[in-house]
Parts: sequence; structure tokens; C-alpha cells
Amino acid sequence: MSDDKPLRQSREQQTADISEAQIAVHWQEEDYFAPPAKFIAQANLTDAGIFERFSLDKFPECYREFADLLEWYKRWDKTLDTGNAPFWRWFVGGKLNACSNCVDRHLAKHKNKAAIHFVPEPEQEAVQHITYQELFVRVNEFAALLRDFCGLKTGDRVTLHMPMVAELPITMLACARLGVIHSQVFSGFSGKACADRAVDSESRVLITMDAYYRAGKLLDHKEKADIAVAEAATDGHRIDKVLVWQRYPGKYSSPTKLVEGRDVIINDLLRKYRGKRVEPVPMPAEAALFLMYTSGTTGKPKGCQHSIGGYLAYVTWTSKYIQDIHPEDVYWCMADIGWITGHSYIVYGPLSLGASSVIYEGVPTHPDAGRSWRIAEDLDVNIFHTSPTAIRALRRAGPDEPAKYNHHFKHMTTVGEPIEPAVWKWYFTEVGKGEAVIVDTWWQTENGGFLCSTVPAIHKMKPGSAGPGIPGIHPVIYDDEGKELPAGSGKAGNICIRNPWPGIFQTIWKDPDRFVAQYYARYCKNPKSKDWRDWPYLAGDGAVQAADGYYRILGRIDDVINVAGHRLGTKEIESAALLVAEVAEAAVVPVADEIKGKVPDLYVSLKPGLNASKELANKISAAVVSAIGAIARPREVVIVPDMPKTRSGKIMRRVLAAISSHQDPGDVSTLANPEVVDKIRELVK
Ligand code: WT7
Repeated sequence: MSDDKPLRQSREQQTADISEAQIAVHWQEEDYFAPPAKFIAQANLTDAGIFERFSLDKFPECYREFADLLEWYKRWDKTLDTGNAPFWRWFVGGKLNACSNCVDRHLAKHKNKAAIHFVPEPEQEAVQHITYQELFVRVNEFAALLRDFCGLKTGDRVTLHMPMVAELPITMLACARLGVIHSQVFSGFSGKACADRAVDSESRVLITMDAYYRAGKLLDHKEKADIAVAEAATDGHRIDKVLVWQRYPGKYSSPTKLVEGRDVIINDLLRKYRGKRVEPVPMPAEAALFLMYTSGTTGKPKGCQHSIGGYLAYVTWTSKYIQDIHPEDVYWCMADIGWITGHSYIVYGPLSLGASSVIYEGVPTHPDAGRSWRIAEDLDVNIFHTSPTAIRALRRAGPDEPAKYNHHFKHMTTVGEPIEPAVWKWYFTEVGKGEAVIVDTWWQTENGGFLCSTVPAIHKMKPGSAGPGIPGIHPVIYDDEGKELPAGSGKAGNICIRNPWPGIFQTIWKDPDRFVAQYYARYCKNPKSKDWRDWPYLAGDGAVQAADGYYRILGRIDDVINVAGHRLGTKEIESAALLVAEVAEAAVVPVADEIKGKVPDLYVSLKPGLNASKELANKISAAVVSAIGAIARPREVVIVPDMPKTRSGKIMRRVLAAISSHQDPGDVSTLANPEVVDKIRELVK
């Protein structure tokens, strides 16, 4: 960072937003649940002395233990370099390859073991079991194609827009083998959203699939690639090649035509690369493994850049000790690989440990509420990992369904949003049959892996609370003035992490100033300092710490809405709405949803002389879906005569949020146009 201007801006802006954080959940403190004795008896981590070994005075060398789980071509010289704070560099001087760590190194002992169980959504379609040997062969052949046909080399970026199929990890690992940086975009995102990410990362190659199943329908996915290329072109960026995997090898399943000279069917082309082997490229630990775009406070998603060495060490260690993955376990994380959870805890963590990881293509409740439990029973899954949104949906669709199946979990995870104690208890009693330990893991796209969680065999569980920092993570809650709020204070504040950790992202792609301003400026003690102690990491969540040291996460303190455990920037949705010609102003507010936690309500005002209509509201909603994806579809589009505004002209989103939630908006007499509040309330009723 050249000067401290972004520092100051961000501090002011974030202070103004803080009080919004005090919202969120006000659940009672719950009683503890003890981890089942059978779980403890077999757990990978039972020694409570671990916290002593990872205390702050052992930092950063304690993290050698993480990196020791990997295979290195060359060991690192320096565990942590803070010379360019807060751009931390982990395991400097070390060389490794993420793909060989996830594939090659397991062949000697486990070549016949299933690396991936791919479960297609149509139930009559056979499950594919891909052994480590087969994964090795397929990754090598595809890496050869990427190198020789696409000309991709170390450091290039490639955008992936792939559904939940085995070809997705194969593609990621092939990139990693070459040192190519992958940027996977969630398949549910629109072609436009894919284009934005391809443009930002300057990807010349887009890898996609022709079609995939979702809720019983074979969706045309290739059409999104055409939109992505066209949209990127309007931004002045050329995507030269579109590589298309076939959902059914040998058969093209999309009604969208291939574009001559640009589009290639991977399955056809692969014939040329049969039997090809590609040596994994020894990469510096500090090189980038992938970009993962996530929403923030501006309209533009930011590319979180994750490293090879630090990231892989972090997800491997946490998979082993927090997920408790053993060689014989069958592990199923129901997240989508298009999100960080899937990168860390479907692909890189489990495969680095040589585990068997389940990939399910479709909707957990398709064709009925028992589907997930049948999959668990048939594959004998014993570690299950999902989000509160999925748990709520499964519970609503079939509260008594789990009891009908003979599945047995030893361990279950919840991630992505706060889980209501009642939902937690259903998960524990019905899904886990009282036999499974639960970890509520709090972390973010930026973090690489878990930050707060109970250690499953060491801590008692407390429904609704994530738990303490995991070994090596030292959280702290600051109030707006930067004062530490001690455990048991009963006060909510901004949760930060005192120390760097290997899984933390390296920067925002092409935006280092924003990286510093958004995550480190707020509580930085001295912007010139090279001492990590001066740079607490601001997570952007409100939290309280109970007397027992457990953290309860209350929700975002910024303009981010957590929909179904995934982040959407209110600004992103607003800018999509503003692209509709009729719209003059737009404001998005979160509203509670029984299943998804939060969903967006969109308020718009029209340009002069235009009238509200249902058609127009639908058109605006469709515009949001086409700009971002169905996940951003507003619950309601409310066309208002005028936005409630302060005298300085700022839209009062708080007032709109209160109206959406049928709550009292409080004193509105100081608004420039208080009379509009009742009119809007009428519209929302
Ligand atoms: C935001 C990060 C990282 C996994 C998927 C989401 C919220 C995440 C929890 C939890 C309460 C949680 C936070 C966080 N969040 N886990 N266990 N309890 N809230 O990643 O899309 O980057 O979202 O999700 O608000 O900041 P993400």
C-alpha cells in the first residue's frame, strides 16, 4: 500500500455500519452435549495439550505441524515472512505440487481405493467410483490436453463454470498439476457472472459442461458459456477457447450449438492424450493455487487468492483433526465445489489425506426426502457435512425420514450460517441418531479453512455456538473503539483473528489496496509495522463470546447478505436492478427466511412518469437472476413511489428492512420524506 488513505476511508465507513451488526440472533445459551464416547475412542485428536502447543508464544513455528502433513520437493526456509505485512507469506522457499499431494502420493498404498464416489442425481444412473489410480490417469491426460492443446502454463488463469461432477475435481487437479490457477464459478451463477470473473482474472480459456441434472431436469449449461464469452467481449476481453465436458461421454447433451474454432468437446479431444503423463510442476509454496470470487461491500465480486503451500497444509490438517477423517472413512460434504467449502472440504482437504470423497450432483431432497439418507446408507458414509439451510430443508421435507434408513454417522458438520438450536437438535437426534458428534464451523471464503469450531473429541458441543478458535487460531472481539470485549461480557462486537494462519488468502486479485483496507485497516495498530501482532484480521462478522470461551456468530457487519449460507452483496443486486431502463433507484435489504436463513427484498423507485406494474416487477427480478443467478432472486420486488431518505439524500435501508420484516422502523421523523414510510408499508402488506 502506497499511503494510508484507504485505511482511513474504510475505518469511517465501517464505523457507520457497525450498529447494523447488533441485529441478528438472540438465542438463549443452550446446555452442552457431550461427544459420544465411541467417537472419542477413535478420534484423531484427543490430546487437549494441543492448545498449549499452538499458543501464541509458539507462533508461527507451531504451524510446521500443518505443513508436515504434506509432501515437499523442497522444505521451506522460513515458516512465516511478515516483511510485507499484511501480505503474509507462509512456508517461504518450500516447493510442492498440490495435485501430486492429492493424487500421486497415495498411489503406493491406495491406488485401488475410491478417491471419488460420484452420485448422479437420476437415481437409476449408476454411481461412479473413481479410484486413485483412475484419478491419476484422468488428471494426467487432461493436464496434457491443457498444456499441449490450450498452451496453458504456470501462472495462467483458467475459468471453470462446472456443475457437481467428477470432472470438476479432475479439472482443478489438472490445473494444479501444471501450476495453472483455476477460478471455478458456481454453476448456478449466470453467464454474465461467469464473464465478470473471467474478465477480472483475464482467463482466455473457459471450461464448462454441456448439461447437468438439477431437480429432475437436465439443464442446458453450455448456453451460459456462450453468454459468458459474449459478455466478456463487451468488456473488451476475449475468451479464445471454450472446453466442453460431456455429461454423458460420447454424447452431446446440450441444445446449444458449438462455435466452430472456439468450442471443443473435451471427451473427443482426450483420445489424443490417452496414456499421456505430465510431471507435476514443483511450485513455490507461495504461488497461487486458485481464485475464489466472493461478494463484498462493492458491486464487484473480489477474487480471493489462495496459496498452494499454506492453503493445502491448512485444509489437510483441519480435515484430519476437525473433520476427523481416517483412511477408512467415507466422507460426504454436500456443499457445492463452486464455493470455498467444496474446494477445501470436498476436494483438497479430503484428497490430500487420501480419503474417499462423495460428490452428489443434485438436490438433496430429489426425488424425495429420503434421497440423502439412501446415498449415505448405500455408500456407508460416516462423515457428513452440510449447511443449516440444507438441514432445514431436509427437516421440513421429511422430519422422520432419517430414522427409516440404516445410515450411521460418527461425525457431522454444519457450516455457513448460524444454526438455530432447534434445527441443531434435529440434526443431532434424527440425522445423527444421537451417535454423531457435531462441529459448527465458522469461517469464510477468505480464510481457506475453519477458524472457530469445537475440536470434536475434546470439547462439549453447544447448540447455536460455533465454539472456540481451533488450535492456532486466536480470535478476539473488539468494540467500535477498539477495546477488547472479554469472554462473558455479554456484549457483541467485531470478531477478529489476532494472528495470521497458513490458510488465509494472500490478497484480492489485482486489488491489494482493498485487501488491506477491508480486512486489516480497521484495527491496525501501526500501518508501517512488520509485526503481525499489529495487524488483527477483521472478519466482517458480529459475534459474542460466552464465559466458556465459545463464540456465537451473529451475522455480517457489512452490506453482505448470507443467503442459504452464501454471500451476496446488496450492491451487486442493486447494480443489476439499476441496469433495467425503468429503474431510478434500488435498495436491497435482508429478510429472514425459514429455510434459507436470509433472502433479499428489493425496493426500487422508477424514473419520472412511469407506473408500477407486476410485469415490470417481474422484469426487474429476471434482470437480477440473469446478472447474478437464481440464488440472488429477490423474494419481493417492491416498486415504491419514493425511497425513504435522510436529508442528505441517503437511502435508509434500515427503514426498508424493518418494513420487510414487519417490524417497527422506529423514529422516522428526521427523514426528508417521512410520509413515504406508511405508503411503503401499505405496499408490503
Ligand atoms: C460468512 C462467510 C466458509 C463456509 C461457507 C460460507 C457466515 C459461516 C458460519 C457459522 C455462523 C457463519 C459468516 C461468514 N458463516 N460459517 N458456522 N455460523 N455464521 O463462506 O460465503 O465466504 O460466507 O458466512 O457470516 O462471514 P462465505
